[in-house]
Amino acid sequence: MPSWLNNAVFYEIYPQSFQDSNADGIGDLNGIISRLDYVRSLGCNAIWLNPLYVSPFKDAGYDVADYKKVAPRYGSNEDLYRLFGEAHRRGMHVLLDLVPGHTSEKHPWFLESCRPERNAYTDRYIWTDSAFQGIANHLYIAGDTDRDGCYMLNFFKSQPALNYGWLHPNEEWQMGIDDPACVATRDAMVEVMTFWLSHGADGFRVDMADSLVKGDDEKKSGTCAVWRDIFSKVRPKFPDAAFVSEWDNPELSLNGAGFDMDFYLNNRGNGYTTLARDFVNYDANYKRGVTRPEDHSYFKKDAGGDITRFLKDYLKRYEATKDHGFISIPTGNHDTPRMVGSLTDREALLAEAFILTLPGVPFLYYGDEIGMRYQKGLVSKEGGYQRTGTRTPMQWDATKNHGFSTGAEDTVYLPTDPSADAPTVEEEEKDPASHLNTIRNILILRENTEELQADGSFEVVNKGNEVPFLYRREDMLLGVNPTGETREVEIDRDRSVVLKIGEVTPGAKSITMGPQSFCILL
Ligand code: GLC
Ligand code: CA
Repeated sequence: MPSWLNNAVFYEIYPQSFQDSNADGIGDLNGIISRLDYVRSLGCNAIWLNPLYVSPFKDAGYDVADYKKVAPRYGSNEDLYRLFGEAHRRGMHVLLDLVPGHTSEKHPWFLESCRPERNAYTDRYIWTDSAFQGIANHLYIAGDTDRDGCYMLNFFKSQPALNYGWLHPNEEWQMGIDDPACVATRDAMVEVMTFWLSHGADGFRVDMADSLVKGDDEKKSGTCAVWRDIFSKVRPKFPDAAFVSEWDNPELSLNGAGFDMDFYLNNRGNGYTTLARDFVNYDANYKRGVTRPEDHSYFKKDAGGDITRFLKDYLKRYEATKDHGFISIPTGNHDTPRMVGSLTDREALLAEAFILTLPGVPFLYYGDEIGMRYQKGLVSKEGGYQRTGTRTPMQWDATKNHGFSTGAEDTVYLPTDPSADAPTVEEEEKDPASHLNTIRNILILRENTEELQADGSFEVVNKGNEVPFLYRREDMLLGVNPTGETREVEIDRDRSVVLKIGEVTPGAKSITMGPQSFCILL
Protein backbone atom coordinates (compact mmCIF):
# COMPACT_ATOMS: atom_id res chain seq x y z
CA MET A 1 0.00 0.00 0.00
CA PRO A 2 1.45 3.40 -0.92
CA SER A 3 2.52 5.21 2.27
CA TRP A 4 1.08 8.57 1.18
CA LEU A 5 -2.42 7.22 1.73
CA ASN A 6 -2.09 7.30 5.50
CA ASN A 7 -2.33 11.06 5.47
CA ALA A 8 -4.49 11.47 2.38
CA VAL A 9 -7.81 13.28 2.23
CA PHE A 10 -9.46 13.24 -1.20
CA TYR A 11 -11.62 15.83 -2.90
CA GLU A 12 -13.89 14.47 -5.62
CA ILE A 13 -14.31 16.71 -8.65
CA TYR A 14 -17.07 16.15 -11.17
CA PRO A 15 -15.22 17.96 -13.97
CA GLN A 16 -18.19 19.28 -15.91
CA SER A 17 -19.44 21.17 -12.83
CA PHE A 18 -16.42 22.59 -11.07
CA GLN A 19 -15.01 25.57 -12.96
CA ASP A 20 -15.51 26.66 -16.55
CA SER A 21 -12.51 28.59 -17.89
CA ASN A 22 -13.66 29.41 -21.43
CA ALA A 23 -17.32 30.44 -21.04
CA ASP A 24 -18.76 27.46 -22.92
CA GLY A 25 -20.80 26.51 -19.86
CA ILE A 26 -18.91 23.30 -19.11
CA GLY A 27 -16.28 22.86 -16.44
CA ASP A 28 -12.80 22.02 -17.75
CA LEU A 29 -9.23 21.14 -16.84
CA ASN A 30 -7.91 24.70 -16.92
CA GLY A 31 -10.73 25.59 -14.56
CA ILE A 32 -9.71 22.83 -12.17
CA ILE A 33 -6.07 23.93 -12.31
CA SER A 34 -7.13 27.47 -11.39
CA ARG A 35 -8.84 26.11 -8.26
CA LEU A 36 -6.11 23.77 -7.00
CA ASP A 37 -4.98 26.26 -4.38
CA TYR A 38 -8.52 26.40 -3.04
CA VAL A 39 -8.75 22.61 -2.81
CA ARG A 40 -5.38 22.42 -1.10
CA SER A 41 -6.44 25.19 1.32
CA LEU A 42 -9.21 22.91 2.58
CA GLY A 43 -6.67 20.40 3.83
CA CYS A 44 -7.37 18.09 0.88
CA ASN A 45 -4.13 16.74 -0.52
CA ALA A 46 -5.54 14.42 -3.17
CA ILE A 47 -8.15 14.58 -5.90
CA TRP A 48 -10.37 12.08 -7.67
CA LEU A 49 -11.59 13.21 -11.09
CA ASN A 50 -14.67 11.56 -12.56
CA PRO A 51 -14.19 10.23 -16.12
CA LEU A 52 -12.98 12.92 -18.47
CA TYR A 53 -12.40 10.83 -21.57
CA VAL A 54 -13.96 11.02 -25.03
CA SER A 55 -17.55 9.89 -24.63
CA PRO A 56 -21.08 10.34 -26.00
CA PHE A 57 -21.97 11.25 -22.37
CA LYS A 58 -25.01 9.02 -22.10
CA ASP A 59 -23.84 8.29 -18.56
CA ALA A 60 -21.86 11.45 -17.81
CA GLY A 61 -18.67 9.95 -19.22
CA TYR A 62 -18.93 6.50 -17.62
CA ASP A 63 -19.59 5.44 -21.20
CA VAL A 64 -16.02 5.71 -22.45
CA ALA A 65 -15.36 5.86 -26.20
CA ASP A 66 -11.58 6.37 -25.95
CA TYR A 67 -9.79 5.43 -22.74
CA LYS A 68 -6.67 7.35 -23.61
CA LYS A 69 -8.01 10.67 -24.82
CA VAL A 70 -9.39 13.59 -22.85
CA ALA A 71 -12.80 14.76 -24.12
CA PRO A 72 -12.28 18.00 -26.05
CA ARG A 73 -14.88 19.76 -23.93
CA TYR A 74 -12.51 19.43 -20.97
CA GLY A 75 -9.32 20.33 -22.85
CA SER A 76 -6.51 18.11 -24.11
CA ASN A 77 -4.26 15.35 -22.79
CA GLU A 78 -1.57 18.02 -22.42
CA ASP A 79 -3.89 20.01 -20.13
CA LEU A 80 -4.35 16.92 -17.99
CA TYR A 81 -0.61 16.29 -17.81
CA ARG A 82 -0.22 19.91 -16.74
CA LEU A 83 -2.86 19.38 -14.07
CA PHE A 84 -0.87 16.40 -12.74
CA GLY A 85 2.25 18.57 -12.59
CA GLU A 86 0.47 21.49 -10.91
CA ALA A 87 -1.05 19.14 -8.34
CA HIS A 88 2.28 17.46 -7.62
CA ARG A 89 3.92 20.85 -7.18
CA ARG A 90 1.42 21.49 -4.37
CA GLY A 91 2.07 18.11 -2.76
CA MET A 92 -1.19 16.67 -4.07
CA HIS A 93 -1.98 13.35 -5.76
CA VAL A 94 -4.52 12.80 -8.54
CA LEU A 95 -6.65 9.72 -9.20
CA LEU A 96 -8.44 9.24 -12.50
CA ASP A 97 -11.58 7.17 -12.88
CA LEU A 98 -11.11 3.80 -14.53
CA VAL A 99 -14.20 2.18 -16.02
CA PRO A 100 -13.10 -1.41 -16.65
CA GLY A 101 -16.46 -3.19 -16.74
CA HIS A 102 -17.92 -1.65 -19.88
CA THR A 103 -17.35 0.85 -22.65
CA SER A 104 -19.65 3.10 -24.58
CA GLU A 105 -21.59 1.44 -27.38
CA LYS A 106 -19.68 3.90 -29.58
CA HIS A 107 -16.23 2.64 -28.56
CA PRO A 108 -14.31 1.40 -31.65
CA TRP A 109 -13.81 -1.98 -29.93
CA PHE A 110 -17.56 -2.40 -29.67
CA LEU A 111 -18.23 -1.22 -33.22
CA GLU A 112 -15.78 -3.89 -34.41
CA SER A 113 -17.35 -6.45 -32.10
CA CYS A 114 -20.76 -5.79 -33.68
CA ARG A 115 -19.54 -6.79 -37.12
CA PRO A 116 -20.63 -10.17 -38.47
CA GLU A 117 -17.11 -10.99 -39.70
CA ARG A 118 -14.75 -12.37 -37.06
CA ASN A 119 -12.10 -9.84 -36.03
CA ALA A 120 -9.75 -8.98 -33.16
CA TYR A 121 -12.64 -7.59 -31.05
CA THR A 122 -15.27 -10.25 -31.68
CA ASP A 123 -14.78 -11.64 -28.17
CA ARG A 124 -13.93 -8.37 -26.39
CA TYR A 125 -17.59 -8.19 -25.24
CA ILE A 126 -20.02 -10.85 -24.07
CA TRP A 127 -22.17 -12.20 -26.88
CA THR A 128 -24.48 -15.17 -27.18
CA ASP A 129 -24.40 -17.07 -30.45
CA SER A 130 -27.91 -16.25 -31.62
CA ALA A 131 -30.07 -13.14 -31.70
CA PHE A 132 -32.80 -15.35 -30.24
CA GLN A 133 -30.63 -16.61 -27.38
CA GLY A 134 -30.82 -14.21 -24.44
CA ILE A 135 -28.79 -14.17 -21.22
CA ALA A 136 -30.59 -15.33 -18.09
CA ASN A 137 -30.40 -12.99 -15.08
CA HIS A 138 -28.50 -10.30 -16.96
CA LEU A 139 -29.47 -7.30 -19.02
CA TYR A 140 -28.85 -7.79 -22.72
CA ILE A 141 -29.73 -6.38 -26.13
CA ALA A 142 -31.19 -8.49 -28.90
CA GLY A 143 -31.73 -7.66 -32.54
CA ASP A 144 -29.72 -4.48 -32.82
CA THR A 145 -26.75 -5.69 -34.89
CA ASP A 146 -25.91 -7.57 -38.07
CA ARG A 147 -23.87 -9.92 -35.92
CA ASP A 148 -26.05 -12.84 -34.94
CA GLY A 149 -26.13 -12.75 -31.16
CA CYS A 150 -27.26 -10.83 -28.10
CA TYR A 151 -24.79 -8.75 -26.15
CA MET A 152 -24.68 -8.22 -22.43
CA LEU A 153 -25.02 -4.83 -20.75
CA ASN A 154 -23.20 -3.81 -17.60
CA PHE A 155 -25.31 -0.81 -16.65
CA PHE A 156 -27.30 1.39 -19.03
CA LYS A 157 -28.24 0.43 -22.59
CA SER A 158 -25.25 2.45 -23.83
CA GLN A 159 -22.75 0.38 -21.78
CA PRO A 160 -22.01 -3.12 -23.18
CA ALA A 161 -20.11 -5.39 -20.78
CA LEU A 162 -16.48 -6.15 -21.53
CA ASN A 163 -15.58 -9.83 -21.55
CA TYR A 164 -13.58 -10.97 -18.53
CA GLY A 165 -15.18 -14.39 -18.76
CA TRP A 166 -17.46 -16.55 -16.64
CA LEU A 167 -16.50 -18.28 -13.43
CA HIS A 168 -18.09 -21.56 -14.53
CA PRO A 169 -18.89 -21.38 -18.24
CA ASN A 170 -21.73 -23.68 -19.11
CA GLU A 171 -22.82 -22.49 -22.52
CA GLU A 172 -20.89 -22.72 -25.76
CA TRP A 173 -20.59 -18.93 -25.97
CA GLN A 174 -19.35 -18.42 -22.40
CA MET A 175 -15.60 -18.29 -21.89
CA GLY A 176 -13.54 -19.07 -18.82
CA ILE A 177 -11.64 -16.24 -17.14
CA ASP A 178 -8.33 -17.47 -18.51
CA ASP A 179 -9.52 -17.78 -22.10
CA PRO A 180 -7.09 -15.79 -24.29
CA ALA A 181 -9.88 -13.37 -25.27
CA CYS A 182 -10.57 -12.58 -21.60
CA VAL A 183 -6.89 -12.22 -20.81
CA ALA A 184 -6.69 -9.82 -23.76
CA THR A 185 -9.43 -7.68 -22.15
CA ARG A 186 -7.47 -7.57 -18.89
CA ASP A 187 -4.29 -6.67 -20.69
CA ALA A 188 -6.06 -3.90 -22.57
CA MET A 189 -7.05 -2.43 -19.20
CA VAL A 190 -3.49 -2.83 -17.91
CA GLU A 191 -2.35 -0.87 -20.93
CA VAL A 192 -4.82 1.94 -20.21
CA MET A 193 -3.65 2.11 -16.59
CA THR A 194 0.01 2.08 -17.63
CA PHE A 195 -0.64 4.87 -20.11
CA TRP A 196 -2.03 7.31 -17.54
CA LEU A 197 0.33 6.30 -14.74
CA SER A 198 3.29 6.91 -17.07
CA HIS A 199 1.90 10.38 -17.77
CA GLY A 200 1.70 11.33 -14.12
CA ALA A 201 -1.59 10.00 -12.74
CA ASP A 202 -1.25 8.68 -9.18
CA GLY A 203 -3.79 5.88 -9.43
CA PHE A 204 -7.44 5.16 -10.09
CA ARG A 205 -10.85 5.12 -8.60
CA VAL A 206 -12.27 1.97 -10.15
CA ASP A 207 -15.85 2.01 -11.30
CA MET A 208 -18.02 -1.04 -10.50
CA ALA A 209 -14.87 -2.94 -9.60
CA ASP A 210 -16.87 -6.00 -8.57
CA SER A 211 -18.57 -6.35 -11.95
CA LEU A 212 -15.90 -8.01 -14.08
CA VAL A 213 -16.51 -11.76 -14.03
CA LYS A 214 -19.99 -13.00 -14.93
CA GLY A 215 -22.08 -16.01 -14.09
CA ASP A 216 -22.17 -17.45 -10.59
CA ASP A 217 -19.32 -15.32 -9.26
CA GLU A 218 -21.37 -14.24 -6.22
CA LYS A 219 -18.46 -14.93 -3.91
CA LYS A 220 -16.30 -12.94 -6.35
CA SER A 221 -13.42 -15.43 -6.49
CA GLY A 222 -13.22 -14.89 -10.25
CA THR A 223 -13.30 -11.11 -10.09
CA CYS A 224 -10.73 -11.11 -7.25
CA ALA A 225 -8.41 -13.34 -9.30
CA VAL A 226 -8.67 -10.99 -12.27
CA TRP A 227 -7.78 -7.98 -10.09
CA ARG A 228 -4.84 -9.75 -8.49
CA ASP A 229 -3.54 -10.50 -11.96
CA ILE A 230 -4.03 -6.89 -13.09
CA PHE A 231 -2.27 -5.54 -9.98
CA SER A 232 0.61 -7.99 -10.41
CA LYS A 233 1.17 -6.41 -13.81
CA VAL A 234 0.78 -2.78 -12.77
CA ARG A 235 2.15 -2.44 -9.23
CA PRO A 236 5.77 -3.49 -9.77
CA LYS A 237 6.19 -0.60 -12.20
CA PHE A 238 4.13 1.89 -10.19
CA PRO A 239 4.54 1.00 -6.50
CA ASP A 240 3.18 4.39 -5.36
CA ALA A 241 -0.02 4.17 -7.38
CA ALA A 242 -3.22 3.94 -5.33
CA PHE A 243 -6.46 2.15 -6.18
CA VAL A 244 -9.86 2.67 -4.63
CA SER A 245 -12.74 0.42 -5.56
CA GLU A 246 -16.40 1.09 -5.92
CA TRP A 247 -17.29 -2.26 -4.40
CA ASP A 248 -18.68 -1.68 -0.91
CA ASN A 249 -17.31 -4.92 0.44
CA PRO A 250 -13.85 -4.37 1.94
CA GLU A 251 -13.43 -8.01 2.97
CA LEU A 252 -13.45 -8.87 -0.73
CA SER A 253 -11.96 -5.77 -2.33
CA LEU A 254 -9.10 -5.16 0.13
CA ASN A 255 -8.32 -8.65 1.43
CA GLY A 256 -9.28 -10.54 -1.71
CA ALA A 257 -8.77 -8.39 -4.79
CA GLY A 258 -5.89 -6.30 -3.46
CA PHE A 259 -7.30 -2.76 -3.59
CA ASP A 260 -5.82 -0.14 -1.23
CA MET A 261 -9.15 1.44 -0.37
CA ASP A 262 -12.80 0.54 -0.78
CA PHE A 263 -15.76 2.88 -0.74
CA TYR A 264 -18.19 2.30 2.06
CA LEU A 265 -21.42 3.36 0.44
CA ASN A 266 -24.59 2.49 -0.75
CA ASN A 267 -27.72 0.68 -0.59
CA ARG A 268 -27.43 -1.88 2.12
CA GLY A 269 -29.25 0.61 4.31
CA ASN A 270 -27.09 -0.18 7.33
CA GLY A 271 -23.77 1.52 6.70
CA TYR A 272 -23.11 4.82 5.01
CA THR A 273 -26.80 5.43 4.49
CA THR A 274 -27.48 5.49 8.22
CA LEU A 275 -25.02 8.37 8.52
CA ALA A 276 -25.52 10.52 5.51
CA ARG A 277 -28.84 9.81 4.00
CA ASP A 278 -32.36 10.63 4.79
CA PHE A 279 -34.66 8.91 2.38
CA VAL A 280 -37.76 10.51 3.76
CA ASN A 281 -37.81 13.68 1.74
CA TYR A 282 -35.04 13.17 -0.78
CA ASP A 283 -36.69 12.57 -4.08
CA ALA A 284 -39.72 11.07 -5.72
CA ASN A 285 -37.68 8.05 -6.72
CA TYR A 286 -37.03 7.22 -3.12
CA LYS A 287 -40.50 8.12 -1.98
CA ARG A 288 -42.08 5.19 -3.72
CA GLY A 289 -41.02 2.74 -1.05
CA VAL A 290 -42.35 2.58 2.48
CA THR A 291 -40.37 4.91 4.71
CA ARG A 292 -39.00 3.19 7.75
CA PRO A 293 -37.51 4.83 10.85
CA GLU A 294 -34.11 3.44 9.89
CA ASP A 295 -34.21 5.48 6.71
CA HIS A 296 -33.32 8.50 8.82
CA SER A 297 -29.69 9.51 9.20
CA TYR A 298 -28.23 9.18 12.70
CA PHE A 299 -27.57 12.91 12.56
CA LYS A 300 -31.22 13.91 12.03
CA LYS A 301 -31.84 15.99 15.14
CA ASP A 302 -35.28 14.78 16.12
CA ALA A 303 -35.32 11.28 14.68
CA GLY A 304 -33.90 9.47 17.73
CA GLY A 305 -31.10 7.96 15.66
CA ASP A 306 -29.22 4.87 16.74
CA ILE A 307 -25.46 4.81 16.08
CA THR A 308 -25.25 1.09 16.79
CA ARG A 309 -26.86 0.40 13.41
CA PHE A 310 -23.82 1.89 11.73
CA LEU A 311 -21.35 0.37 14.17
CA LYS A 312 -22.73 -3.15 13.86
CA ASP A 313 -21.89 -3.14 10.17
CA TYR A 314 -18.81 -0.94 10.14
CA LEU A 315 -16.85 -2.36 13.07
CA LYS A 316 -16.82 -5.90 11.80
CA ARG A 317 -15.67 -4.76 8.38
CA TYR A 318 -13.08 -2.44 9.88
CA GLU A 319 -11.65 -5.15 12.15
CA ALA A 320 -11.56 -7.69 9.34
CA THR A 321 -9.77 -5.42 6.88
CA LYS A 322 -7.65 -2.86 8.72
CA ASP A 323 -4.43 -4.76 8.13
CA HIS A 324 -5.08 -4.96 4.40
CA GLY A 325 -6.24 -1.50 3.38
CA PHE A 326 -8.53 1.40 4.16
CA ILE A 327 -12.25 1.87 4.19
CA SER A 328 -13.13 5.13 2.46
CA ILE A 329 -16.30 6.84 3.61
CA PRO A 330 -17.33 9.67 1.31
CA THR A 331 -19.29 12.71 2.48
CA GLY A 332 -21.22 12.12 -0.71
CA ASN A 333 -20.51 11.46 -4.36
CA HIS A 334 -21.87 12.07 -7.83
CA ASP A 335 -24.38 9.22 -7.40
CA THR A 336 -25.71 9.93 -3.92
CA PRO A 337 -28.13 12.67 -2.89
CA ARG A 338 -26.30 15.55 -1.27
CA MET A 339 -26.92 15.45 2.45
CA VAL A 340 -28.16 19.02 2.63
CA GLY A 341 -31.72 18.99 1.45
CA SER A 342 -32.95 16.07 3.47
CA LEU A 343 -30.62 17.01 6.35
CA THR A 344 -30.20 20.55 7.58
CA ASP A 345 -26.87 22.29 7.14
CA ARG A 346 -25.98 21.63 10.79
CA GLU A 347 -27.00 17.97 10.65
CA ALA A 348 -24.85 17.50 7.56
CA LEU A 349 -21.92 19.29 9.18
CA LEU A 350 -22.02 16.89 12.12
CA ALA A 351 -22.20 13.90 9.76
CA GLU A 352 -19.20 15.25 7.83
CA ALA A 353 -17.23 15.93 11.01
CA PHE A 354 -17.82 12.31 12.02
CA ILE A 355 -16.93 10.86 8.61
CA LEU A 356 -13.76 12.97 8.33
CA THR A 357 -12.48 11.84 11.74
CA LEU A 358 -12.93 8.09 11.27
CA PRO A 359 -10.02 5.83 10.33
CA GLY A 360 -9.42 5.09 6.66
CA VAL A 361 -9.13 7.58 3.83
CA PRO A 362 -12.04 10.03 3.60
CA PHE A 363 -13.43 11.58 0.41
CA LEU A 364 -15.03 15.01 0.36
CA TYR A 365 -17.43 15.60 -2.54
CA TYR A 366 -17.01 19.05 -4.12
CA GLY A 367 -19.42 21.55 -2.62
CA ASP A 368 -20.11 19.48 0.50
CA GLU A 369 -17.64 21.72 2.32
CA ILE A 370 -20.00 24.68 1.87
CA GLY A 371 -23.17 22.68 2.44
CA MET A 372 -24.32 22.77 -1.18
CA ARG A 373 -27.88 21.52 -1.44
CA TYR A 374 -29.43 18.72 -3.41
CA GLN A 375 -31.40 20.39 -6.22
CA LYS A 376 -34.80 18.81 -6.61
CA GLY A 377 -36.83 18.63 -9.77
CA LEU A 378 -34.13 19.03 -12.43
CA VAL A 379 -34.57 17.37 -15.80
CA SER A 380 -32.07 14.53 -16.15
CA LYS A 381 -28.70 15.49 -17.63
CA GLU A 382 -26.40 12.99 -19.34
CA GLY A 383 -27.98 9.95 -17.71
CA GLY A 384 -28.06 11.51 -14.26
CA TYR A 385 -31.77 11.05 -13.49
CA GLN A 386 -32.20 11.51 -9.72
CA ARG A 387 -28.42 11.96 -9.46
CA THR A 388 -28.67 15.18 -11.49
CA GLY A 389 -29.56 17.24 -8.40
CA THR A 390 -26.21 16.27 -6.88
CA ARG A 391 -24.18 17.33 -9.92
CA THR A 392 -24.96 21.05 -10.19
CA PRO A 393 -22.09 23.53 -10.60
CA MET A 394 -19.86 24.59 -7.73
CA GLN A 395 -20.96 27.84 -6.12
CA TRP A 396 -17.99 30.14 -5.81
CA ASP A 397 -19.43 33.62 -5.41
CA ALA A 398 -22.36 35.95 -6.12
CA THR A 399 -21.55 36.68 -9.77
CA LYS A 400 -23.30 35.12 -12.76
CA ASN A 401 -23.72 31.34 -12.42
CA HIS A 402 -22.19 31.68 -8.96
CA GLY A 403 -18.77 32.17 -10.54
CA PHE A 404 -18.84 28.76 -12.19
CA SER A 405 -19.00 30.14 -15.71
CA THR A 406 -19.16 33.52 -17.41
CA GLY A 407 -21.19 31.90 -20.20
CA ALA A 408 -24.88 32.56 -20.74
CA GLU A 409 -27.11 31.13 -18.01
CA ASP A 410 -29.00 28.95 -20.46
CA THR A 411 -25.81 27.34 -21.74
CA VAL A 412 -24.36 26.16 -18.42
CA TYR A 413 -24.12 22.41 -17.81
CA LEU A 414 -26.75 22.63 -15.09
CA PRO A 415 -28.26 25.63 -13.30
CA THR A 416 -26.71 26.63 -9.99
CA ASP A 417 -28.81 26.80 -6.82
CA PRO A 418 -31.43 29.53 -7.50
CA SER A 419 -32.19 30.29 -3.86
CA ALA A 420 -31.33 33.73 -2.51
CA ASP A 421 -29.32 32.21 0.33
CA ALA A 422 -27.44 29.67 -1.82
CA PRO A 423 -24.16 28.96 -0.02
CA THR A 424 -20.98 30.20 -1.71
CA VAL A 425 -17.28 29.91 -1.02
CA GLU A 426 -16.92 33.69 -1.04
CA GLU A 427 -19.49 34.25 1.72
CA GLU A 428 -18.28 31.39 3.87
CA GLU A 429 -14.66 32.46 3.66
CA LYS A 430 -15.68 35.57 5.64
CA ASP A 431 -17.10 33.69 8.62
CA PRO A 432 -14.65 31.78 10.84
CA ALA A 433 -17.48 29.53 12.05
CA SER A 434 -18.91 28.76 8.59
CA HIS A 435 -19.45 25.25 7.25
CA LEU A 436 -16.44 25.80 5.01
CA ASN A 437 -14.07 26.94 7.75
CA THR A 438 -15.23 24.20 10.11
CA ILE A 439 -14.49 21.49 7.55
CA ARG A 440 -11.17 23.18 6.80
CA ASN A 441 -10.21 23.29 10.50
CA ILE A 442 -11.03 19.60 10.90
CA LEU A 443 -9.00 18.61 7.84
CA ILE A 444 -6.01 20.75 8.72
CA LEU A 445 -6.04 19.34 12.24
CA ARG A 446 -6.22 15.84 10.77
CA GLU A 447 -3.33 16.53 8.44
CA ASN A 448 -1.18 17.66 11.37
CA THR A 449 -2.27 14.99 13.86
CA GLU A 450 -1.11 11.43 13.33
CA GLU A 451 -3.74 10.02 15.70
CA LEU A 452 -6.51 11.21 13.39
CA GLN A 453 -5.04 9.81 10.18
CA ALA A 454 -5.97 6.67 8.28
CA ASP A 455 -4.32 4.02 10.41
CA GLY A 456 -4.73 5.66 13.82
CA SER A 457 -6.67 3.26 16.04
CA PHE A 458 -10.43 3.55 16.46
CA GLU A 459 -12.29 2.52 19.56
CA VAL A 460 -15.89 3.06 20.59
CA VAL A 461 -16.31 4.25 24.18
CA ASN A 462 -20.07 3.84 24.60
CA LYS A 463 -21.67 0.49 25.32
CA GLY A 464 -24.86 1.21 23.40
CA ASN A 465 -26.63 4.19 21.94
CA GLU A 466 -25.81 6.69 24.71
CA VAL A 467 -25.68 10.39 23.88
CA PRO A 468 -23.19 11.85 23.25
CA PHE A 469 -21.53 9.21 21.14
CA LEU A 470 -17.89 9.02 22.24
CA TYR A 471 -15.04 7.42 20.29
CA ARG A 472 -11.30 7.35 20.56
CA ARG A 473 -8.62 7.79 17.91
CA GLU A 474 -5.47 6.61 19.70
CA ASP A 475 -5.53 8.73 22.88
CA MET A 476 -7.74 11.49 21.51
CA LEU A 477 -11.37 11.48 22.55
CA LEU A 478 -14.08 12.62 20.14
CA GLY A 479 -17.74 13.20 20.81
CA VAL A 480 -20.88 13.95 18.89
CA ASN A 481 -24.30 14.93 20.18
CA PRO A 482 -26.80 14.96 17.30
CA THR A 483 -29.81 15.63 19.54
CA GLY A 484 -31.44 18.93 20.48
CA GLU A 485 -30.56 18.54 24.17
CA THR A 486 -27.56 19.36 26.32
CA ARG A 487 -25.84 16.33 27.83
CA GLU A 488 -23.09 16.02 30.39
CA VAL A 489 -21.04 12.83 30.61
CA GLU A 490 -18.13 11.54 32.60
CA ILE A 491 -14.95 10.91 30.70
CA ASP A 492 -11.70 9.15 31.56
CA ARG A 493 -9.76 12.22 32.72
CA ASP A 494 -9.58 15.98 32.50
CA ARG A 495 -9.28 16.93 28.86
CA SER A 496 -9.06 20.11 26.84
CA VAL A 497 -11.00 20.98 23.70
CA VAL A 498 -8.94 21.03 20.49
CA LEU A 499 -11.84 21.61 18.12
CA LYS A 500 -15.59 21.97 18.54
CA ILE A 501 -18.85 22.56 16.76
CA GLY A 502 -21.54 24.12 18.95
CA GLU A 503 -21.37 24.45 22.75
CA VAL A 504 -18.81 22.17 24.34
CA THR A 505 -17.59 22.76 27.91
CA PRO A 506 -14.99 20.61 29.58
CA GLY A 507 -15.33 19.97 33.34
CA ALA A 508 -13.47 17.84 35.88
CA LYS A 509 -13.35 14.39 34.27
CA SER A 510 -16.46 15.36 32.33
CA ILE A 511 -17.68 17.07 29.24
CA THR A 512 -20.90 18.97 28.58
CA MET A 513 -22.10 18.93 25.01
CA GLY A 514 -24.81 21.32 23.86
CA PRO A 515 -27.42 20.59 21.18
CA GLN A 516 -26.02 19.38 17.84
CA SER A 517 -22.39 19.55 18.88
CA PHE A 518 -19.12 17.82 18.09
CA CYS A 519 -15.70 17.89 19.73
CA ILE A 520 -12.16 16.63 19.57
CA LEU A 521 -10.51 16.45 23.00
CA LEU A 522 -6.91 16.02 24.04
C1 GLC B 1 -20.74 3.77 -11.06
C2 GLC B 1 -20.63 5.27 -11.23
C3 GLC B 1 -21.91 5.77 -11.82
C4 GLC B 1 -22.09 5.13 -13.19
C5 GLC B 1 -22.03 3.61 -13.09
C6 GLC B 1 -21.83 2.98 -14.45
O1 GLC B 1 -21.72 3.44 -10.15
O2 GLC B 1 -20.32 5.87 -10.01
O3 GLC B 1 -21.94 7.15 -11.91
O4 GLC B 1 -23.30 5.51 -13.74
O5 GLC B 1 -20.97 3.16 -12.29
O6 GLC B 1 -20.55 3.20 -14.93
CA1 CA C 1 -15.34 25.07 -20.50
